[in-house]
Amino acid sequence: MERKKQININLKYIHQLDKDDIFRDYKNLFKKPGKNIYFGANTLGLTPKATRNNINNFLDDLSKKAVIGWRDSSWLNINKELGTEISKIIGSRSGNVILSDSTSVNLFKLLFSAIKLVKNRRFILTDDKNFPTDYYIISSIAKEFGLRVKVVPRKKLIENIDKDVSVVTTTQVDFVTSEVLSLSKLAKKCKTYGAISLIDLSHSVGILPLYLDKWGVDFAVGCTYKYLNGGPGSPAFIYVNNKYLEKADIIIKGWFGHIKPFDFNNHYVPSKGIEKFLTGTPSIISMKQLETSLKIFCQINLEKLRKKSLKQTSIMTDLILRYKNINKIQIISPSNILRGGHIAMKHKNASKLLEIYEKNGLIGDFRPPNIIRFGISPLYNSYKDIWNASKIINNL
Ligand SMILES: Cc1ncc(COP(=O)(O)O)c(C=O)c1O
Repeated sequence: MERKKQININLKYIHQLDKDDIFRDYKNLFKKPGKNIYFGANTLGLTPKATRNNINNFLDDLSKKAVIGWRDSSWLNINKELGTEISKIIGSRSGNVILSDSTSVNLFKLLFSAIKLVKNRRFILTDDKNFPTDYYIISSIAKEFGLRVKVVPRKKLIENIDKDVSVVTTTQVDFVTSEVLSLSKLAKKCKTYGAISLIDLSHSVGILPLYLDKWGVDFAVGCTYKYLNGGPGSPAFIYVNNKYLEKADIIIKGWFGHIKPFDFNNHYVPSKGIEKFLTGTPSIISMKQLETSLKIFCQINLEKLRKKSLKQTSIMTDLILRYKNINKIQIISPSNILRGGHIAMKHKNASKLLEIYEKNGLIGDFRPPNIIRFGISPLYNSYKDIWNASKIINNL
């Protein structure tokens, strides 16, 4: 449980927290949308100011080189180089992570690979709090393999892993409530029963410290446009545990996954490395956009960032609950440390309420039927943002 000392949260305390905050200068690296308090990090993170320069440099390079640019190894290797940066953030050795396509496409690719690794099983196991695209993909693949999809309550996911399960797949942070699942426990149970784990880290990466190799997670995917600030539609990542890199089969045998794509040989031979999960030509401009943001993350200690994040979401919760009899808001995110980067609150007129917040300069998002989510980025949101947001929420 999160240890809570009784602290009087007042403006003096908030100012002191901002003063002592080791991340306080990072907010200057990001462009804020006007004067608004931006709590949209769990949907679309803010763009670093340096991105514009990086994109302009790329466009200059492109206009000078055009097709010659492909001979420049910085374009050809960028999805692996950025994969190396992501590997540091998710606790993987380098060479096991690559950027490609969207999270949905990558989930499809990896679910195919994962299922092929385990024979004679009946189920793909998931839980009732997974993200919709994950369900669509799980059921389409299950149908092709003649497997059943077993959907269990999230709290019972780990206990349902047994010898009938082929692949366990879920989203680590519940995209609605923000509840975090223990991946070390999940991976351990998978190992006991020979099941494969495939985790969607879209709401985890860049906000939670992750140790995929150490925990023994088998496969993972995730997007880079939320807490990693890669911009709308920035490329998603693929993680494949080293033990499966060579033996994993692939569903989309695209030319970028070929061992020698520029031999233009009609016979497909997969790359021996993580490149075999690539399909076609990457969008270099998107990669360049993400590159700027990942340069910021190289300097970040994620354990410390997580500490700030938990403190911010805890203060935000306390400030909202202080007026719960008046604002009629129910917080549905965990009150303990099993809480991701966002706070979710329930209100019968949530959509109307969010409109009012936005008019008053607070940006969050609405999830039907009655949920408002606030994605707080400890990189660019201050404690003062939390204080001011709660004043808007509590109509003070
Ligand atoms: C948990 C989760 N998985 C998958 C997706 C979809 O990702 P993509 O649009 O990159 O396929 C999202 C989008 O918000 C998400 O939150």
